[in-house]
Amino acid sequence: MKLNIIAAETAKVNDNKAYALFFVKESIQFSKVLSAKGESQVESVLKGIKEGPFEDLEFLEIDGCNTFFVDAAKERGLSALDHLRMAAYRLAQKAMKRQVPCVSLFLVDAADEQFKAILHGLYYADYKFDAYKSKQKENFQVTFEIVAGDRAAAFKKITEEVAVEQKAITLARNLINTSASDLYPAAFVEDAKTIAKYTPGLSIKVRNMKQLEKEGFMGHVTVGKGSSHEPHMITLSYDGTKFTAGKSAGKFSSAKSAKRTSRDHLVIVGKGLTFDTGGLCLKPAKSMPEMISDMSGAATALAAIQAIATLKLPIRVSAVCCLAENAIGNKSVLPGDIFKAKNGKTVMVDNTDAEGRLVLSDGLAEAGLIGATHIVDLATLTGAMVRALGYAVTGFFSNDDDLALKVINCGEACCEKFWSMPLEEEYADALKDKFADLKNTGSDAGAISAALFLQEFVPENTAWAHWDIAGTAFVTKKWKYTEYGATGFGVQTLIELAREMGQSE
Ligand code: BES
Ligand code: ZN
Ligand code: ZN
Repeated sequence: MKLNIIAAETAKVNDNKAYALFFVKESIQFSKVLSAKGESQVESVLKGIKEGPFEDLEFLEIDGCNTFFVDAAKERGLSALDHLRMAAYRLAQKAMKRQVPCVSLFLVDAADEQFKAILHGLYYADYKFDAYKSKQKENFQVTFEIVAGDRAAAFKKITEEVAVEQKAITLARNLINTSASDLYPAAFVEDAKTIAKYTPGLSIKVRNMKQLEKEGFMGHVTVGKGSSHEPHMITLSYDGTKFTAGKSAGKFSSAKSAKRTSRDHLVIVGKGLTFDTGGLCLKPAKSMPEMISDMSGAATALAAIQAIATLKLPIRVSAVCCLAENAIGNKSVLPGDIFKAKNGKTVMVDNTDAEGRLVLSDGLAEAGLIGATHIVDLATLTGAMVRALGYAVTGFFSNDDDLALKVINCGEACCEKFWSMPLEEEYADALKDKFADLKNTGSDAGAISAALFLQEFVPENTAWAHWDIAGTAFVTKKWKYTEYGATGFGVQTLIELAREMGQSE
């Protein structure tokens, strides 16, 4: 895919081109079209077409020009922006299929966020994961000519931002889709090191099994010791506070409205189970292959911080990736075993398949040690969340109303849906153990119990949100702009959250 933004009001007519006219809800927008002659033709065709929703994308010939009529109001339950994303996604897919070399999009009257949504939609159509196919096929390269008029400069800046965001989304999706035998904890570490090396301003610290054990990060040791692949914990750090008010933040700067340096330190903690067999409490075979996605939280955290640093957002952000493989071996943790977590609390492993919360106890402790003011943890944590909210909505828990509201609003701006769940104290007692302080299973309310368990490890006076992305990180059938596999869910909302927090005060 290629993007070409032109400052003209209309596009030059050319045989190799097609034209895309966007329909937004009932009103027709983005359709200041073609040449004068073409315009009258289009008007008459528009009159002839009954108002949407259309069955499918219409592809008509007007005045000798191939024209896509893109219906942006089709799927139920999507926001207006997400309709635009979907419309752009369908347009790009169709253009690729029809091998149209160039499509002109008339976007002179599109708002910034509408343009951004359209760009994301085009990018989603271009994603494919064929690393394991014997024959790899390049996508047909379509050039999208954006007819931008006097919006050209603003659109160019947005295009650069979206390119960075989509690069991060692709990184997360590729990591998540990679087989577990190829992406084990040490392999993830190598990828993270490469990213840190090539991303200015991003530093990395890695702890291996020996260091984790020495420092008392026993959640990782407990979960990872049954595997031939040793566990690791990665801490990536970025300090964008020097990019605030007055100083140049480079071409991506969004700092112009920031009045003083934000003192916030956002730490993103990601569950990174490169594979989850369930351990000795073995999972059923049917649901096991998709456990290659059990490191989605860590992949999303890595991708988000890469983009945040590249965009030079004016805030301090760190990412902690909690990497282990939950496997069966002669050293595997046994049900009933008790270990001491980093914050001193003792935990009985009631079920070896509830392993994510154990590594996250270390990640939350690390967030406290590096001075988090705000923590967002992301984890494919519970099957209960999949059953509760499915693949379209992420359930999250928070101890801070302000952060919770930010999560929902930032999600909405990125077409990622969040639903606030209760940290219901009535279920807290179910986590108590007879011998240890806690056990890793609780009440029948599985997703809530997992969140209550995590809360035991949140450092004091820290705003915290836990996103259970078990349903939204990976889909087993086509959904919106994603085929089978990783969706990249969360990358955009995390970037948006950092953007929002950086604009503080
Ligand atoms: N990784 C799974 C959760 C999961 C399930 C993610 C389905 C994606 C899709 C997690 O480690 C797990 O197995 N959780 C258990 C916890 C239970 C044993 C308390 C679950 O949800 O069944
Ligand atoms: Zn598990
Ligand atoms: Zn798991």
